[in-house]
Amino acid sequence: MDLAYMAALPKQEFIERRTTLFERLGDNFAAIIFSASEQTRSNDTAYPFRQDSYFWYLTGFNEPDSVLVLTRQNGQNQTALFLRPNDPEMETWNGRRLGVENAPATLNVDYAFSIETLKDELPALLANVEQIYHLQDLREHNDTLMLALLPPSAKLTNLRPHLDEMRLFKSPNEIRLMQQAGQISALGHIRAMRETRPNRFEYEIESEILHEFNRFGARYPSYNSIVAGGENACILHYTENDQPLKDGDLVLIDAGCEFAMYAGDITRTFPVNGKFSQPQREIYEIVLAAQKRALELLVVGNNIQQANDEVVRIKVEGLVRLGILQGDVDELIANNAHREFYMHGLGHWLGLDVHDVGSYSNATENGDRNSKKRDRTLEVGMVLTVEPGLYISPKSNVPEQYKGIGVRIEDNILITEYGNKNLTCAVPKEIEDIERLMAER
Ligand code: GLY
Ligand code: MN
Ligand code: MN
Repeated sequence: MDLAYMAALPKQEFIERRTTLFERLGDNFAAIIFSASEQTRSNDTAYPFRQDSYFWYLTGFNEPDSVLVLTRQNGQNQTALFLRPNDPEMETWNGRRLGVENAPATLNVDYAFSIETLKDELPALLANVEQIYHLQDLREHNDTLMLALLPPSAKLTNLRPHLDEMRLFKSPNEIRLMQQAGQISALGHIRAMRETRPNRFEYEIESEILHEFNRFGARYPSYNSIVAGGENACILHYTENDQPLKDGDLVLIDAGCEFAMYAGDITRTFPVNGKFSQPQREIYEIVLAAQKRALELLVVGNNIQQANDEVVRIKVEGLVRLGILQGDVDELIANNAHREFYMHGLGHWLGLDVHDVGSYSNATENGDRNSKKRDRTLEVGMVLTVEPGLYISPKSNVPEQYKGIGVRIEDNILITEYGNKNLTCAVPKEIEDIERLMAER
């Protein structure tokens, strides 16, 4: 099967996004959005190129060394793109370029210029505007360049809150791509469950996942995959993936594909030999119960904070039941006793970036940018992860049988008018379903 054919948004959608942005920003302004640049991996080899998500969001253009300039003066919108000029020799060595001539028709921009003329052309485009919007604190050299080019009469304003708010709400077309990202990510995890055996290396299982992503048109993972056997699962961002998987251990896999620039982000935890031990089962069931409760709560009108409060309660009650924590549940929660075993958030926005943009707090949305509360009211069109976990470090002072067990279960959900939709439900997470799938091997 080949899904690559559907990996595109209609061109109209990029035009509509620019129109929405023009409307949001008022009048007599310029907005400048830089593309990503190629990043050296070593000597003269580069990392695979990944376009800047903001730039992609507004252009759908996948080349480095480009700059989008939107200007609006007296109600007149103008879109200019700076990009690499055609160059037969460079294109023979390094790949095709759209070129300046083709850009207006292909990308629906009013003007196109060679990137080599940026410093000459930009002052004229920026003359007479009162306000210049720029994505601050993304790349230092762009911040420096903006300050150098700023006309004395203009005010520099951060563009990020505006685009973040737009990107937080996914359109029907984006949801279609994110469903596909969730589905392909799920296929990767199912293959991992099928292919895991004692003594295979973590990186071998990683390769099974990447193979499945590639097979379905998702060329890259949306972040570095975590394949963590045994106590490696207690290292939250473990990516060495270079150890053999041991009979009797669990393996925690956190991996998602990037499909048409949109991220999937799934975690599953399952036994290397296909059968949960009793202590593994006990920890797993607490996390699963917490995740299911969170999935009930994460609906329109509620917020992540509320769901996390319930997740914490379920975990603390479970840990007390197992003798991992001792004391009164309310007191333990008040003292953050769970932090030793659950040290990350319940979830995050998902979209073009795995940790996607958008304010997490109603207060931030209304102006208080210092608020740390994740109390943003959920609305239709938001997509987020739901990823409770428990990590019992081998060094923790707990009953022996639980030491070194790390469990996380992560799904991706879309907030709809009628509850949420789980985009990644194709991978089993019930103990019986995992054991059945693994027994089929
Ligand atoms: N894979 C990164 C995360 O779960 O947030
Ligand atoms: Mn993840
Ligand atoms: Mn995540």
